[in-house]
Amino acid sequence: MGGFTEEQEALVKTSWESMKQNVPELSLRFFSTILEIAPAAKGMFSFLKDSDEIPHNNPRLKAHAIKVFKMTCEAAIQLREKGEVVISENTLKNLGSVHLKKGVIDPHFEVVKEALLRTIKEAVGEQWSEEMEKAWSEAYDQLAAAIKAEMKEES
Ligand code: HEM
Repeated sequence: MGGFTEEQEALVKTSWESMKQNVPELSLRFFSTILEIAPAAKGMFSFLKDSDEIPHNNPRLKAHAIKVFKMTCEAAIQLREKGEVVISENTLKNLGSVHLKKGVIDPHFEVVKEALLRTIKEAVGEQWSEEMEKAWSEAYDQLAAAIKAEMKEES
């Protein structure tokens, strides 16, 4: 595995810094894209199950969106600093069990990755680049791998 560079870390950090100014719109776009790619994912999220459209300003929807973006950004920082993603045991155990319980399986992580990248691309506009895509992808993949490994352990 090649090292995660300072430039890659900076690309993730600066794009997240600008995107987090507009969390309501970002999280809505993120979930719309998830459902565009995988309509069946609707049944998994408690806040989507019972409504025909994606709820605006739903705190749980925002919470999941922010968590995915923020944890991926933190993963990028750790990849540069330590060469690996480190998640505290309690956090990882909780992540593993929540996703397992909700019926999340490996291919869902690809759906969320695609939605994440498309949302970033749209949000950053002209700043988007192949390098930025690669940096977010790598950080997300490593984070997802840690969660998936924990899910396998617990199942
Ligand atoms: C819940 C993070 C990927 C579906 C959560 C929670 C976190 C989280 C922190 C809250 C845990 C708690 O309640 O204590 C992440 C991260 C991901 C990821 C960092 C990727 C790197 C996915 C994927 C799916 C998914 C791929 C399936 C499409 C869910 C669902 C919940 C949840 C259904 C429960 C939310 C609710 O109904 O309130 N996730 N997640 N997550 N996650 Fe994820």
